[in-house]
Amino acid sequence: MDGCATGISQMTSPRTRETFDEDWTFYRGDIAIPESVKAGRAARLTDVPAKDEPKGKHLQIAFVDKETKAEVDPETWRKLDLPHDFCIEGDFLQTDSDADKTHGYLPRGIGFYRKVFPIPQEDKGKKIVLEFDGVFRNSRVWLNGQILKDHRSGYASFEVDVTDNLRYGDEGDNCVLVRVDATDTEGWWYEGCGIYRHVWIRKTSRVHVAQWGSYITTPSVSSLSATVRAEITVHNQTSSPASVKVMNTILDALGARLSFADAQLVVSADDQGVCVQTLEIHSPRLWSPETPVLYTLSTELRCGDELVDRYETTFGVRSFEFTSEGFFLNGKHTVIKGTCNHQDFAGVGVALPDSLQQYKIRLLKQMGSNAYRCAHHPPAPELLDACDRLGMLVMDENRQLDSSEKGLADLESMIYRDRNHPCIVMWSMENEEPFQGTERGARIMETLVRRAHRLDSTRPTLSAMNHGYYSGGYLEKMDLTGINYGHKGTDIELHEKKPERLQIGTEAAACCTTRGVYYPVPEKCYLDAYGHAPALIEWLSWWTCHYEIPWQRLLRHPFLTGMFVWSGFDYRGEPSPYGWPCINSHFGILDTCGFPKDEYYYYKANWSDEPLLHVFPHWNWAGRESEIIKVWVFTNCGEVELFLNGTSLGKKRVVRESHIEWEVPYTPGELRAVGSGGLGGALEKVVRTTGAPASIRLVPDRTELKGKGDAIPVRVEILDSDDLIVPIASNLVRFFIQGPGEIAGVGNGDPSCLERDKADRRSAFNGLCLAIVKSDQSQGTVYLRAESDGLRGAELKFAINC
Ligand code: GAL
Repeated sequence: MDGCATGISQMTSPRTRETFDEDWTFYRGDIAIPESVKAGRAARLTDVPAKDEPKGKHLQIAFVDKETKAEVDPETWRKLDLPHDFCIEGDFLQTDSDADKTHGYLPRGIGFYRKVFPIPQEDKGKKIVLEFDGVFRNSRVWLNGQILKDHRSGYASFEVDVTDNLRYGDEGDNCVLVRVDATDTEGWWYEGCGIYRHVWIRKTSRVHVAQWGSYITTPSVSSLSATVRAEITVHNQTSSPASVKVMNTILDALGARLSFADAQLVVSADDQGVCVQTLEIHSPRLWSPETPVLYTLSTELRCGDELVDRYETTFGVRSFEFTSEGFFLNGKHTVIKGTCNHQDFAGVGVALPDSLQQYKIRLLKQMGSNAYRCAHHPPAPELLDACDRLGMLVMDENRQLDSSEKGLADLESMIYRDRNHPCIVMWSMENEEPFQGTERGARIMETLVRRAHRLDSTRPTLSAMNHGYYSGGYLEKMDLTGINYGHKGTDIELHEKKPERLQIGTEAAACCTTRGVYYPVPEKCYLDAYGHAPALIEWLSWWTCHYEIPWQRLLRHPFLTGMFVWSGFDYRGEPSPYGWPCINSHFGILDTCGFPKDEYYYYKANWSDEPLLHVFPHWNWAGRESEIIKVWVFTNCGEVELFLNGTSLGKKRVVRESHIEWEVPYTPGELRAVGSGGLGGALEKVVRTTGAPASIRLVPDRTELKGKGDAIPVRVEILDSDDLIVPIASNLVRFFIQGPGEIAGVGNGDPSCLERDKADRRSAFNGLCLAIVKSDQSQGTVYLRAESDGLRGAELKFAINC
């Protein structure tokens, strides 16, 4: 019998994939649920009663909180929508534990998520799967009382096939319960807790494109034509063979059909089959950071006349190559100007609304950056979507040097899930693992690389190394060599000893700075924004350096190919070089809110072609009259003249990859920099001594919320009576929302601020704080009002439009 003719006969609708983020309830704490409580016997927690179930058959087992011993009643749990990070909701707690410190002193723990949902009768016969994009961590998933999955990784996406255990139509409702145990850490940064990425429910015919079952590559690319290779894996989850017609169509961004191919494939019962087709695109538009053009491959599966699946894959057409002359994208030499980043953001922890993923990438792009390293694990899929769409090259990273069954499964999850993204140009196998440079490490690496190559032969492998370059045959197992912090000469030495190895700076600088601070304040754990910390603090000097050094070295040594600055954004946790009360890192070019530090403009002057003249520090130095203040300028002008209150302090020639400096005795008033020549041309920048705080200005990233769950970051500025930002203001701002919205979180970028991020108020840090406005519904108008004692308040209006 034909699987098409039997198992799927009543299935007319092809694939759907819908959000499963809404209407969960949440419990923080641990509950004892013995594995021996079998499906059909546990009622109140892991299941709901089936419809018309005879009274008493469904056992009402009482579950108790392990700590309080109180009985838990899921009816009283807190309602919420995903993504959710329960760690960010807590209060900071000072402890001596290293794990607590590196996690930013926010208590981790255990939580439960539960959702009751119906499945219509007509879905009977389909394959139904829950997709979890990311759960931190150690999760167990029950469906209607049955344990269906245990998943340790906090970063690898996974899915749970719920088909057999669902109740359909009149059989009653369904209950999914997820236990998340985030007591243990996987890294040394803030990792969050909970179901912090999206969950989806996918329904397909029994014959369908397998999970992550398309693999699209472009083996030959020119401006005249591109060959597109489409490898489609078809899963036949019936008990008979299926004869399937696989039809692939390439569509451009406007939906025009560019190319078509079809083939017949017979897939054995309960098996997978692979179909490879080659298509052509004439005069393709090539993907690059400057031209992030995307195409869609629409795959249709037909059994006879019946459409059983339609699956869409976004891809790009581009070619790239790492050579001894550097990195070439579409034949053009491209210096990799990258940043390393963890995944959190102010206000929301690791549970970022999609728009914040895009926001982060946009801020980095505006700086002139063209590459993003996902440190130290695969990111949320929406981040990669943003990189595809906005044009940002990506180094995607596997969490650990681990060739165990779990390690390989995590690596596979990353590569299968991500390999169609044109933005990704390299796979990192690990970061700074202790077994680098050992034979044991080399054996593990060989296994990982072999698997990576099998799943994707188009991208090179590397790892981010900080030792062991010459031993164990470790380095040789990978295609490229990634060096963390090579500025002391490890990179040049390696180049001399192993000239055949192509290098890239996988971590660079790690210069600790605090936004808007110009003299270190050790008791507050603040470092100066000029970037002196590596020279001043011995411990930092071991591996970090001033932010200008790596770029200057790269210009002198093109064999370095490119660099990823540690880090794009400050992130929670790893509060180096201090500890409590410092709760986040200082390594970022931008702070945790995405507010640029001065060094942002160093990179922008060098990495982008936008005319730029940036002058710092601020000019509010009451009490330091006549003291010498160092005034720095970053610019791509040819020369700059500086004036203090109208008097010239001299003209200086610009060295673009460095700063220019004047030593200026402080007098309040106006610093004016006038640039000329060079790329920047004629530019002027004024920094004035401001008056006292007088009002609030709200600067939203956008004013239209795109449906339910969309979020907009709003920069909150404290102004003086001339509308200048008061660079030392710390006023407490209170936020009020009217309409179908909420404050998703607040922040201010202060690495030592112990105020809560899930709050309706925040004090400004050096003149700025942040409120993230999120819509609760798909229509309406949301009003945000900001008030602060003694200041004129401000209001904004956001329309919600789907
Ligand atoms: C590196 C490490 C990163 C981060 C960084 C701070 O050694 O790979 O995760 O800790 O140092 O500079």
